[in-house]
Amino acid sequence: METVTHTEAVRGHVEQARSRGATVALVPTMGDLHEGHLALMAEGRRCADVLVASIFVNPLQFGPREDFQAYPRALERDAVKLDGAGADLLFAPSTETIYPRGLAATTRVEVPELTDILCGAARPGHFTGVATVVNILFNIVRPHVALFGEKDYQQLRIIRRMAADLQMDVEIRGMPTRRAPDGLALSSRNRYLSPFERARAPELYHTLRDTALALERGQRDIPALEGAAAARLAAAGFGVDYVSIREAETLATPHTATRTFVVLGAARLGAARLIDNVTADIP
Ligand code: PAF
Repeated sequence: METVTHTEAVRGHVEQARSRGATVALVPTMGDLHEGHLALMAEGRRCADVLVASIFVNPLQFGPREDFQAYPRALERDAVKLDGAGADLLFAPSTETIYPRGLAATTRVEVPELTDILCGAARPGHFTGVATVVNILFNIVRPHVALFGEKDYQQLRIIRRMAADLQMDVEIRGMPTRRAPDGLALSSRNRYLSPFERARAPELYHTLRDTALALERGQRDIPALEGAAAARLAAAGFGVDYVSIREAETLATPHTATRTFVVLGAARLGAARLIDNVTADIP
């Protein structure tokens, strides 16, 4: 695997691959890779001829009081993991490479309706930062397929909407959340949990899963289900940002005809803000 830091180097590799008819998969990441990322790499390896991974801790998606500085960075270790996962190219750009005109002056991608709700309400500007950087990475790498984890459910919906609205010639593929044996969704931010908090953290998943089960068993009092789930998390010591039941496709508020739901939650435990989601299908 080769590591490159400049746009021209990525373009050279990808142009060469495309000119011999090869297909290209991109897995965008912020590094500190875990099994969840490696599952995305495995799928990328399986579904395309050339696998490109990117590692870029994107300042545009962090709020002023968020963990941009503290976000775990482990480029050398990550490169070894990517090599083992069969990646062909690692793109690890600097901030100047991605935003040559500076953060404040750069053009942004807004995805209306989806960016200000749920996590977007608690993290203003976050999803605009995500959509913008993903768009830039797509323009640099020009992948045929790009892979994202379903743990970041709202992010995945926003990227799908952006790709559709801007008529991008790329397939967006979502991959199931990878979990620790006790149910906790794998995330780089799990590192922030103390051993005591780590032991409590799976309660987020268990609460969302039980709420999804209640929906599947026919309960339809959405506010009551959301309230009970939030109360359960608060009792377990979480600072609850939200528990919300939405239509799985659109993230709109469910109505009587809704058949596919997603139960989403975001909650703080010590220094970690954890997110997770579980879908529920009603036959
Ligand atoms: O999910 C992430 O790691 C990031 O939000 C992404 C998609 C790499 C954009 O910075």
